[in-house]
Amino acid sequence: ISLKSFNTFGVQAVAKKFIDIKEEKELYALYDNGVFNEDFFVLGGGSNILFTQDYDGTIVKISNKGIQHFIEGNDVYVTAHGGEIWNDLVWHCVNQGFPGLENMALIPGTVGASPIQNIGAYGAELMNFFSSCKAFDTLTGKFTTFTNEQCQFTYRDSIFKGKYKGRFIITAVTYRLFLYSKRNTSYGAIEEELAKRNITAPTIKDVAEVVSHIRVEKLPDPSTVGNAGSFFKNPIVTPEKLHDLKSFFPNVVFYPTEDGKAKIAAGWLIEQCGWKGKQIGNVAVWKNQALVLTNINDATGVEIYEVSTRIIDNVLKKFGIRLEREVNVL
Ligand code: EPU
Repeated sequence: ISLKSFNTFGVQAVAKKFIDIKEEKELYALYDNGVFNEDFFVLGGGSNILFTQDYDGTIVKISNKGIQHFIEGNDVYVTAHGGEIWNDLVWHCVNQGFPGLENMALIPGTVGASPIQNIGAYGAELMNFFSSCKAFDTLTGKFTTFTNEQCQFTYRDSIFKGKYKGRFIITAVTYRLFLYSKRNTSYGAIEEELAKRNITAPTIKDVAEVVSHIRVEKLPDPSTVGNAGSFFKNPIVTPEKLHDLKSFFPNVVFYPTEDGKAKIAAGWLIEQCGWKGKQIGNVAVWKNQALVLTNINDATGVEIYEVSTRIIDNVLKKFGIRLEREVNVL
């Protein structure tokens, strides 16, 4: 089966087998049939993956749906099944009046994928709202629950990208939201857009709309231009490295992290190397955000990968920082 329509980069690749899971109990049968004893890869929305070759194994797509909630005091626990589209969950919460997720409106992908890389945007991060998740252990054939702490979340990372990479299939996530929490509008771009709209007391719907607007302006729409959002992580450097950088590049864009380090805007580094808007063959660096690589004209995964390697080399040479890919390469 062709995977072209199952990855937002829109690159061509063929998988030997493809199984679409509509209910989590189907995973037991897959286990019994030995699917997990051979190569397999779990796919959600396909919005964070770059296929560089055909896949000689089974793609397991998680499509189970459903959202429930229960209120306990000032908290609301919202449980969504893994195959729900993340943005649908955000709007479900906005429409119910449950605050918290609105800053993460329009992030592509599914609920089941949301903890894996601890998604985040515009001043919010999944780890601050994640309560637990239900996951199928492909080694033992049993379901288990992970608490927030067990997931070991850090910036764009969790235990599911580390020690447990490829082992667990997340079939449901429970988010804990605070019914009376304040709007989180401190991110510069949100403040600016609210001011433009003369909104002084934003509702969560206002925030979700403003964030969606900013994303549409800045990021290419995968349904028209193949891409997987940020291709690289923002690198985190020591205070000494930041000091060095500042002395050579006084305009360097960074955000201090809680542990005294600094997260450097990778988009800025890439732009400084002259890559913003540049096209190499069928691959282009997005004109409004240099952190995003786009498939302009039926690029192959390998072509995209090669451009990303050139960018890494350039940034390393100019700034002494090695960018890490945020997108999964298969
Ligand atoms: N910048 C440039 N040139 C560029 C891009 C960015 O100079 O081409 C500088 C600008 O100064 C800009 C700053 O970098 O103000 C930050 O840019 P932006 O607000 O777009 O955020 P980002 O750090 O580049 C991160 C996430 C995005 C998320 C935005 C908004 C990562 C890897 N990316 O990007 O997430 O939408 O913040 O919060 O952390 C994704 O993960 O796929 C993704 C799109």
